[in-house]
Amino acid sequence: MRSIEKLELKNKRVLIRADLNVPVKNGEVSDDFRIRASLPTIRLCLDNGAKVAVMSHLGRPKGKDSAYSLKPVAERLGELLGMPVRFVPETVGESVAREIGSLEPGKEVLVLENVRFEPGEEKDDEHLAKAYAQLCDVFVNDAFASSHRAHASVAGVARFAEEKAAGLLLTREVMSLKWVLEDPKRPLSVVLGGAKVSTKIGLIENLLKKTDRLLIGGAMANTFLKALGHNLGKSLVEDDMLKKALEVLESVKGSGCTLLLPCDAGVGEGPDVPRATYVPVGMIPKEAQALDIGPASVQLFKEGLEGSMTVLWNGPMGMFEVPSFALGTYGVAFAVSQAGAFRVAGGGETDEAIERLGLASTFSFISTAGGAFLEFLEGKTLPGIVALGG
Ligand code: 3PG
Repeated sequence: MRSIEKLELKNKRVLIRADLNVPVKNGEVSDDFRIRASLPTIRLCLDNGAKVAVMSHLGRPKGKDSAYSLKPVAERLGELLGMPVRFVPETVGESVAREIGSLEPGKEVLVLENVRFEPGEEKDDEHLAKAYAQLCDVFVNDAFASSHRAHASVAGVARFAEEKAAGLLLTREVMSLKWVLEDPKRPLSVVLGGAKVSTKIGLIENLLKKTDRLLIGGAMANTFLKALGHNLGKSLVEDDMLKKALEVLESVKGSGCTLLLPCDAGVGEGPDVPRATYVPVGMIPKEAQALDIGPASVQLFKEGLEGSMTVLWNGPMGMFEVPSFALGTYGVAFAVSQAGAFRVAGGGETDEAIERLGLASTFSFISTAGGAFLEFLEGKTLPGIVALGG
């Protein structure tokens, strides 16, 4: 992939595909992590005297829907950049071309409307991809978080643009994750959580071959624990994944990888209980659900991480959005933030937990991606990256 840093940008029309898919509440951005992460590429293009336009999707609208407009995102971008940001309520066409053409190089930015308002976007429609390409002299993909989507603004446009390049964020994401997968400082420890084994089985299978220690928590651990014969009460268990879980447990034997599962759980009759009750995994009451890992598991995971040189964390250890069941996720967040020379985290909920605790600066790299992060670590090729020649 060619980096944006290698291109001559003066007076050129640069169209950046960013991932500005952020939560918007009552017309205001409530978490600007992804917008802040997109600033270095935008600033680099401005500093090099380009006419800068930015496009992104927001949410999953079914056609045009003002609730999914990028206008509030454009406003927040303007505040963060400290310079004028224009917004055009369209994505392609003459008026957009005129707006881009009239930009003052290096002095202002144009944000286009949500690319998913275009019917051809998610079908990677060739006409739409060509229309994006015609808007610019240089197309930049800085949307690693969307690069698992073969959509017109991510993949298609790169096939037709006069020049194309990878943005700084996308490059950093790819380099960091590639390094963890291919050449990490060892021992490499991977901490996985989240609700379902089924969504992460590809990741587990790929990582088992590469990692020294695998720590599994969250509701997905329930399926492994049940496969080992434990009674999980009314906890979430994917019964159709029990066989797969046993295969994973089997393949760990003799692989050189150490697998740790929780030894206790935070349980309750439901998420609304005022506080969790902590019990060993063998003693989960029939009527209870395991909604968090317990303090003994946090300690076990902390010790499991000791001496790691690289740590990768994805997925919460429990229902941390409910205070009664936040202990496990917060405990593991602190443990990861203190372990390992190189600490990488990724996934929306993981990022949110880190943000809530103010631990972001203790991580070497926090990926902005959710689905793309998982697919990349599963070893899949991402269409947005392939289209850049990567
Ligand atoms: C994400 O939030 O993971 C990305 O922005 C991609 O969004 P999507 O899953 O709606 O394609």
